[in-house]
This record gives sequence, C-alpha cells and structure tokens, in this order.
Amino acid sequence: MKRELVIVIDFGGQYNQLVARRVRECNVYCEIYSYKTDLEKIKAMNPMGIILTGGPNSCYEVDSPTYKKELFELGIPVLGLCYGAQLMMHVLGGKVELSDVKEYGKTEVLVDKKDSKIFENVSEKTICWMSHTDYISKLAPGFEVTAHTANCPVAAAEDVEHGLYAIQYHPEVLHSVEGTKMLSNFVLGVCGCAGDWRMDSFVEESIKQIREKVGNGKVLCALSGGVDSSVAAVLLSKAVGDQLTCVFVDHGLLRKNEGDEVEAVFGPEGSYDLNFIRVNAQQRFYDKLAGVTEPEKKRKIIGEEFIRVFEEEAKKIGAVDFLVQGTIYPDVVESGLGGESAVIKSHHNVGGLPDYVDFKEIIEPLRDLFKDEVRKAGLELGIPERLVFRQPFPGPGLGIRIIGEVTEKKVKIVQDADAIYREEMDKAGMNKTVGQYFAALTNMRSVGVMGDFRTYDYAVALRAVNTIDFMTAEAAEVPYEVLNKVMNRIINEVTGVNRVMYDLTSKPPGTIEFE
Ligand code: XMP
Repeated sequence: MKRELVIVIDFGGQYNQLVARRVRECNVYCEIYSYKTDLEKIKAMNPMGIILTGGPNSCYEVDSPTYKKELFELGIPVLGLCYGAQLMMHVLGGKVELSDVKEYGKTEVLVDKKDSKIFENVSEKTICWMSHTDYISKLAPGFEVTAHTANCPVAAAEDVEHGLYAIQYHPEVLHSVEGTKMLSNFVLGVCGCAGDWRMDSFVEESIKQIREKVGNGKVLCALSGGVDSSVAAVLLSKAVGDQLTCVFVDHGLLRKNEGDEVEAVFGPEGSYDLNFIRVNAQQRFYDKLAGVTEPEKKRKIIGEEFIRVFEEEAKKIGAVDFLVQGTIYPDVVESGLGGESAVIKSHHNVGGLPDYVDFKEIIEPLRDLFKDEVRKAGLELGIPERLVFRQPFPGPGLGIRIIGEVTEKKVKIVQDADAIYREEMDKAGMNKTVGQYFAALTNMRSVGVMGDFRTYDYAVALRAVNTIDFMTAEAAEVPYEVLNKVMNRIINEVTGVNRVMYDLTSKPPGTIEFE
C-alpha cells in the first residue's frame, strides 16, 4: 500500500500534520519524521519527495534545528515551507535575517514566475497565510524568485535544476486559498507521484494481513466506544471473529447512557461476533480522583487507573497472543515518535501500554491513518453512521470537563446538562453543522434566586466549535433561541445549577476542552 512515499521533515511547526494531510489528499502516502532523523534512514525509505515544515526558531541561531546539506543533494525534490524555506537558503549559501516588518495572517502573494510548476493553474495574485519574523534577504546560488508580497521580496523561490523549492508562507492551511493546489503541484507535478493511494483497498488488505498474522491466536482489545477503537475492533472481529475479546472499561466519566449504548452495539445483543466484557469501575475512578484539581494530574490518574483495570481483566482472561490498540497517525506524531511540535496536553490514550498484560505482540491496524480516513474505513466496514461520525470525546472523558475536583455528584450534573444540550442541538439540526459541542461544569458557584429562595449553585458552560482539524477552532454561532431553550431546560431540570454560560473563545487562545 505504501508504494509512493512523500516524507515531511518536522522542524517543530504547529501545522506539520496538516502538511501530511494535504499530501494524502493528493492520494499520495505521506509520513512525518523529526529533523533528527538520520539521512541514511531517509534515503532507505526511497521517498519521491521531501517537504520541510515550518518551526518556531530562527535558522541562523546556533542551536536551531537544522539538516545537513546532503539532504538537498539526493536528487529527490525538496520543498521548504516557512522555516523550511529559510533553512534551505541558509544551508545552501543564501541569507536569512530578522525582518523590520513582520507578516502574520492573510497576505496577498504576487506570482512572478508564471510558468513555475508550483504555480500551475494558480492565480497571479493569490491569498496566502503568512507567519514569519525572519525573511530570506539573499537567495542561495542557483535560485530565482518566483513570488513576492508587498513586504517580503522572496515569498517563493526555486532552483529547478536541482528540484529545490522554497515557500515562505503556509500553503497547508486552508486560509491559503490556493495552497492545496500548490502542494499538489509539488507532489504530482514536481515529484511525479501518480496519486494512486486510496482507502478502498485498506479494509480488504488489512483483514487479509491480520488473518495471516493472527492465525489461531487469541486477541485482546481495549474498546472505548470512540471511533478509533470501534473501527479497530470491528476490523479485528471481521478478520478473526470470536478469537477476539473486547474489554470496555466504564470509568464513570462517560456521557449520559454512553456505557449502555456501547454495550448495545458490541455486547451480546449487538451485531458482532466477539467476546465483550464490560467493567463497571466507576467508584474506583471517583476514589482516585478525590481531592485532585490539577488537569494534567487528573489525566494521568485516569490514564493509569484505566490501565490497571484493563490489566486486571486481562489477567482473568490469561495469556493472549495479540493486543489491539486503536492508535491513529496523529497519535503517533503527537506522542513524539514522529514529529517535533510542543505538547500542549498529554492525551492519556497515547502510548499508555499495560505493563503486565501477557501478550506477545501489539496490533495497531489504524496506525497509518488520519481521522477522516479511519471514518471512511468505518463506513466500509458497515459500522453505523452515528458511531462513525461521533464527535470526538476525550479519553479522560468528563474528568476534564469538570473544572477542579471531580465528584460523582458533579459528574451527574454535567452528564444531565450535556444530554439536554445535545438533545436540543440535534433537534435544531446543529449536529450536522457543528464540529464538537458539549457542556462543562465550571468550578464557579454563584448566588441566584429560585422560587423565592436564595441559591448558591454551579454555573454550566456550553461550548460549541467549528473546526476542520481540531488544531484551530472558532466558537459556533448557535442560534439564540436554541441557547435560550437549553439554558431554561438545564436550570429547570438539573439540580445544582443556577447559571448557564456560552463560551465564545476561539482556539487559539483557548483550547476546545476546558482542561
Ligand atoms: P483541545 O482541548 O486540546 O482539544 O483543543 C482538541 C481535541 O482533542 C480532544 N482532547 C482529548 N482527547 N484525550 C483525548 O483522547 C485527551 O486528554 C484530550 N484532550 C482534548 C478534544 O475533545 C478535541 O476534540
């Protein structure tokens, strides 16, 4: 399946995964590697093209991430983006300096070289997303300018003879209106990729490979009910049937009725021929979380306890041959195995392997896929749409939607408020247009009055965001009538709440979740 490969070398930019995603949209398989990856390893992978990402550093500073000159002499086309473009110039004998005028955001780029392969079918004036304080003040020998902006003499440059291309802006973000076209021009036009990597064959090939690998072996899977682990479980179940056992840990931090819903799909009454074990471990998690307020500590506790519960169940089953994990490609990159960008939140479901489960090997059938690719695979496997298009729900669940200490009582409040919010959003058809929405419990209590009595109760925060990739997001415009109805119902139906607020913050500066 990985016939044609394009490699993204990551210099710590926040958009590294977007670059890889755009390449895959050209139906070309793409992987991300750190700039610390050895040149020999890169050569051995035999890529059709290499893309260098942006990054937060200045390439002329001594300790900044860099790459040796030989990378540009492999005869493989290289495209440098932002920091990657500057680094290319710096390493090859050009000059990069601090600019007087910094450029951030939407900028008009004027194409100078109309027959540049990068700009094929791109308008002469095109809006792109700039984000830089350094600029290329002198080109490296052999390069020519192919585009500029009002403040930036080198918005793009190329050395066609050696297959080297530099772009100062970020074609990978959707704000760069024709950016995807430029990347596809590089991957298909310059690198000569055929663009025949497709999802159709994924399910079929995976099932075949899994059968060969597993043989008559026993397989164990931790199922959360989320898209990734559900797709992984169904894939395995189709491949090896009841040789598979799925363990579903209900940590008491799930949404209202979620445990029963997962059981209905995967349990004995459900549609799959697998062994399903539900562990009701709610109280254990509440006990461990008592008195803990710090978000990262909560994540860690929930993650560790999850693994302990899972291990105990696994021990009851005895030795298994394979352990299935629903790891997807962004997990691989975020856990630091691929890229270089800063960790903002530690996601507990990444890399947390049970220590004492007796198994021989791990199977990660979705390890190479992005989220929407996983969804496509899910649909092909016949998984119900409502499961496949389920909103993301964090591994630590409501634990990070309750600001401050988590208690059983607070979980009940946020579950009930969230269920009302989701019900009303569904009724209003907002579930089809808004990327992610949920209720959270602020740790704030305030004075109110209900039925002539003073109250001193909690405030619930409603969040709804529009996002394409969950890296950036904007608060969704939920109609006032919907918000008003939700507010009314929450105040009337959920004991312990006397205020409801709507969060207008975008990401950045906020994050989608509150913790
Ligand atoms: P943030 O809050 O970082 O969220 O803007 C981005 C996306 O990631 C989800 N999220 C998590 N998922 N474990 C997860 O599995 C976590 O600890 C976690 N924290 C945030 C969040 O729901 C959103 O979709």
